[in-house]
Amino acid sequence: MVKPLQKSSVSGWSPQSWRQKQALQMPTYDDADHLHQVEAALSKYPPLIFAGEARQLKKELAKVCMGEGFLFQGGDCAESFDQFSANGVRDLFRVFLQSAIIMIFAGGKNVTKVARLAGQFAKPRSSDMETIDGVTLPSYRGDMINGADFTEEARRPDPDRMERAYFQSAATLNLLRAFASGGYADLNRAHNWLLDFVADSPSAHEYEDMVNQLTHCVNFMEACEINEETSAQIRGTSFYTGHESLLLNYEEPLLRHDSLTGIPYATSGHFLWIGDRTRQPDGAHVEFLRGVDNPIGIKCGPSLEPQELEELLTILNPENEPGRITLIVRVGAGKVADHLPKFIKVVKDGGHHVVWCCDAVHGNTYKAESGYKTRNFNDVVQEAKEFFEVCRAEGVYPGGVHVEMTGLDVTECVGGQHKLTDTELAKNYDTLCDPRLNASQATEFAFEVAKLLKG
Ligand code: PEP
Ligand code: CO
Repeated sequence: MVKPLQKSSVSGWSPQSWRQKQALQMPTYDDADHLHQVEAALSKYPPLIFAGEARQLKKELAKVCMGEGFLFQGGDCAESFDQFSANGVRDLFRVFLQSAIIMIFAGGKNVTKVARLAGQFAKPRSSDMETIDGVTLPSYRGDMINGADFTEEARRPDPDRMERAYFQSAATLNLLRAFASGGYADLNRAHNWLLDFVADSPSAHEYEDMVNQLTHCVNFMEACEINEETSAQIRGTSFYTGHESLLLNYEEPLLRHDSLTGIPYATSGHFLWIGDRTRQPDGAHVEFLRGVDNPIGIKCGPSLEPQELEELLTILNPENEPGRITLIVRVGAGKVADHLPKFIKVVKDGGHHVVWCCDAVHGNTYKAESGYKTRNFNDVVQEAKEFFEVCRAEGVYPGGVHVEMTGLDVTECVGGQHKLTDTELAKNYDTLCDPRLNASQATEFAFEVAKLLKG
């Protein structure tokens, strides 16, 4: 039976209603006709994700809300056109699988995996312009908007980039779907997920020990005839994509009405979040997302006022549906106790259902003496610890973590078991935007989270 229309009847909302509101952090395109042509083309392309998948993710997040699962979000700060490769996607997928298994083993709960991937191409910037050696140009805003090279040509926003982002996302999702269900994610292969260059780190030995225990469990299940042939959970995994819903000229044309229910979904990714700089309750980004039925994240930084949070929760989740809202707290190590309790009070007082997730990276970025933007691994772990402590002290469930990470062997964050130093950052500093944990640091982080889950 066709369910009655719900979200499309959200009062005053339409796919275009965001255009009446103030949209911060969006580019100005100098050729309006060109922009409209690309928007029209995108609106005819197939959806990248399907309504049923977004609903399934929301169900999983509803469980996390109730303390019956854990959310792991991670990936690039900004995806790149030039660095796109099958191996890059595969290696991120591997780090995801191994991190998730570490967390499942420790926490005894399912881990919902949401990658910052197949859509994470648009970036908010703290300043509109960038000046180098006396030359001032528009800031780089992500490959979907303009180019990172410091030339006038590259920095001009180009609508064709949205189409390129769409096709790269489609190719990425194609690979992810194959990896998730085609045998790669089979639990029997857990030994193989560890990336070669992680193999000599202490975490690798910890990982091997854990996989050996896991093998005993898999063998036991095999004896009970629960195996890759009889169980989809052993054979594969569910894997979701998410990104900051920033460039609404891309999001709107990819909105589709579910053929079963008529409900609008953003089909650019399963999980969309609102950035810390674009979460104005009366702004365009909140307006767009209030009408789509996907699970939504809200970045909560130090400047978020309790009153604003209350308004956001009311606007974005009027029916208080569990799984709809994930609050992604990113205040920085040493500051969690200053901010998180006031957010928790709002949620408790209003009886709101939310997933509490810790973005342990965005509050910990600084410029190193070498000039590189970096993060210290210890700060990342410290923020996660403080998050778990404050949640537990306030009686709410710490439901997830969010990090910027890659499966590549980059040198962008200092610290970790390999004690990467500032002077080593230059070796392989490859990010287009914020510094990422490399695969070894990501694995180590997963073990730190595992300790917190056990605690
Ligand atoms: C991000 O997630 O890359 C980002 C820009 O985060 P925030 O909005 O929290 O600063
Ligand atoms: Co970032």
